[in-house]
Amino acid sequence: MAETRKFPHHLIREIFEQPDALRRTIAPRVSQAEGRVRLDQIHISREELRALRRINIVASGTSRHAGMTGQYMLQELAGVPVDVDYASEFKYRNPMIGRGELSIFITQSGETADTTASQREARQKGSRTIAISNVEGSTIAREADGFIYTDAGPEISIASTKAFTAQMACLFLFALYLGEIKEKVPKALAQHYIRELLALPEKTETILAASDKVEKLAELYYRVDDFMFLGRAIHYPIAMDGALKLKEVSYIHAEGYPTGEAKHGPNAMIDFRLPLVLIATCDRNNNDAGSVARYQQSVSNMEGFKKQGATLIALATEGDTVVPQLANHTIFIPAVPELLSPILEIVPLQLFAYYVAAKRGLDVDHPRNLVKAVTLE
Ligand code: BG6
Repeated sequence: MAETRKFPHHLIREIFEQPDALRRTIAPRVSQAEGRVRLDQIHISREELRALRRINIVASGTSRHAGMTGQYMLQELAGVPVDVDYASEFKYRNPMIGRGELSIFITQSGETADTTASQREARQKGSRTIAISNVEGSTIAREADGFIYTDAGPEISIASTKAFTAQMACLFLFALYLGEIKEKVPKALAQHYIRELLALPEKTETILAASDKVEKLAELYYRVDDFMFLGRAIHYPIAMDGALKLKEVSYIHAEGYPTGEAKHGPNAMIDFRLPLVLIATCDRNNNDAGSVARYQQSVSNMEGFKKQGATLIALATEGDTVVPQLANHTIFIPAVPELLSPILEIVPLQLFAYYVAAKRGLDVDHPRNLVKAVTLE
């Protein structure tokens, strides 16, 4: 059984295990010299993968948030349209899927009934399926055409952390793998991304080394009963998971929302009583005009929220001097390509949820009413 030696709870230990989980999940599958990703358990031919028309990603809870980031990774790197679905909805919406399509099922336990049932539905409709799971030999993997294991080690705490970041790494690996097959990713770009993937564990350690800053932030806010988490584009799924983590372990009402959507309604709630956690990172190192544009839009949103008297807790990229002038508190993330930024951005939000719940004196590893794997539909 996993021990909580050195850490008071499984949750905080598993948050700190993320650098090793990422190393084990990434390193054995990449060759930087060749600029290639090797995935040995994808039993679908290159020809079939090359001809893929569409990809469906289906999952529950935190795993679906990983799938939401995978949508951006796969569309950008493999040029394939991607839909993301709640597993609990997928079966009931009579999904229009079939041959020539791939359905990816993400589930840490590999046993979530909504997700295994959805995979059976997809297979019946003729779709090929791939499972991303943390449990070897789990139902989802056994019944898939191919699988990619997150090598995160046993995840005991009900709230998913190290499996989540490993799931996003697997989705990125698959996006590079498919992008190479579809001849969308030139070798030099693949080598660049593989270098960045291999640097993620150390960047995660940098964030974890500043965990005391997040703990001090939790000390200021753990009595607050409402939060809104905001993120744009690939950062929106991280806002969603930051909110879900806080809900799961501290029972606080927290909502994840697309930053640009706040003006269509939620803005009416925003004043000093509703702290906003806003992701405003920016990839300045890769001439990514889209990332800069999204960042500038988020800064403009922050200026508006400040005028409303909002309290802003911001995530920014190391070296940023604009966001800290607008935010009440700023947590910095090491510079990273935007497509990989979710893997780093979630870490301080996991820490925040943990410290808030611990300061509320709650059983952070076994939140009330929740189970680790919902094996009944
Ligand atoms: C919920 C867990 O029950 O199931 C979440 O509380 C998890 O943490 C969700 O994300 C999905 O679980 P799995 O095993 O399918 O990834």
